[in-house]
Amino acid sequence: MANGTGGRFDGGGARRRVKVTSLGTYVPPRVLTNADLERLVDTTDAWILKRTGIRERHVVDEGVASSDLGKEAAIAALAEAGVSPEQIGFIVVATTTPDMFFPSTACLVQHKIGATNAWGFDLGAACSGFTFALTTGAQMVASGAHDHALVIGADVMSSIIDFQDRATCVLFGDGAGAVVVSPAADGEPGIIDFAHEIDGSGGPALCMPAGGSLRPATRETVDARLHYVHQDGPAVFKFAVRKMSEICRRVLEANGLDAGDVDLFVSHQANRRIIMSAAEHLGVDRDKVIVNIERFGNTTAATIPLALADARREGRLPKGARVLLASVGAGFTVGAVLLRWAG
Ligand code: UT7
Repeated sequence: MANGTGGRFDGGGARRRVKVTSLGTYVPPRVLTNADLERLVDTTDAWILKRTGIRERHVVDEGVASSDLGKEAAIAALAEAGVSPEQIGFIVVATTTPDMFFPSTACLVQHKIGATNAWGFDLGAACSGFTFALTTGAQMVASGAHDHALVIGADVMSSIIDFQDRATCVLFGDGAGAVVVSPAADGEPGIIDFAHEIDGSGGPALCMPAGGSLRPATRETVDARLHYVHQDGPAVFKFAVRKMSEICRRVLEANGLDAGDVDLFVSHQANRRIIMSAAEHLGVDRDKVIVNIERFGNTTAATIPLALADARREGRLPKGARVLLASVGAGFTVGAVLLRWAG
């Protein structure tokens, strides 16, 4: 059977309910603390902790790429699901830091894990990568096209961070998370709904200015340090707080729910203050909010699975829990996924 066989457009496929079957995460072992950053740029542990909530982040050693982190997370998720790599029909890798422009990181992960019957692709939605990818993978299973989708968020942000820029280098870390999405049996908890938006007017607020088709790499672009993350922090901050609560309200209202019905709020981890303000605007109790940015920083497409894993480890993610995932990222991209935890 050829890779990716499946799916039909003749009306014969029936929509199915779907669930997140399993969760796997991976961070590289090396830890970069705020004290380490104090030695690189004009910053302090106190400033970073107060303004962002971050104490430390994990970073890769040279030669380790997003596909390597994604592979580890994928293997863990597959093992937990009891699904073999050959049973995966579709792989989507959300990443802002692909190993290279092409081939896609999805192809590299497919090969590394031996998912010989899968097709797939990379998805670019920056910090909303995981919510966008989860919705995409869920559609592939819900449509009947595939029985098992592998949804991965993997980023090596340290590869595009300017460690001379104190405004950005303190914020990010490296990591990966993966889930297997499969059909849900009758009565089983599953994915309920999603809402997404993009707003390209926000593009200049958070971008990597060079290296793409607009400004290919030249000696000048390298000298001008244009191959790194550039961010208007306060602009992104304001947009994130407003949009995070808006998109959440939208998905809750569409399902006749309100903030009081949410058991766990698992937002993208960019800044503790953004998460807590969004939760407050939305009306979600503080004890239902997961914050683990302290140990990982902003790992872009990996923050939500890393937060889910911590919630589960702490016993805060029981089967059936109503979970609201939310994200805002460069683009701007905005996402919310509402689900009942089935793991
Ligand atoms: O995942 C989606 C993408 N990213 C985000 O969601 C991030 C959104 N933005 C933020 O989280 C915050 O805007 C930051 C954490 C990036 C910055 O916090 P802020 O409270 O908005 O600070 P600011 O940019 O307004 O800067 C305040 C001051 C400035 O000094 P002056 O001009 O007031 O003298 C900065 O130069 O803090 C200074 N500053 C620092 N000081 C010490 C900026 N970075 C640092 C630093 N250490 N690392």
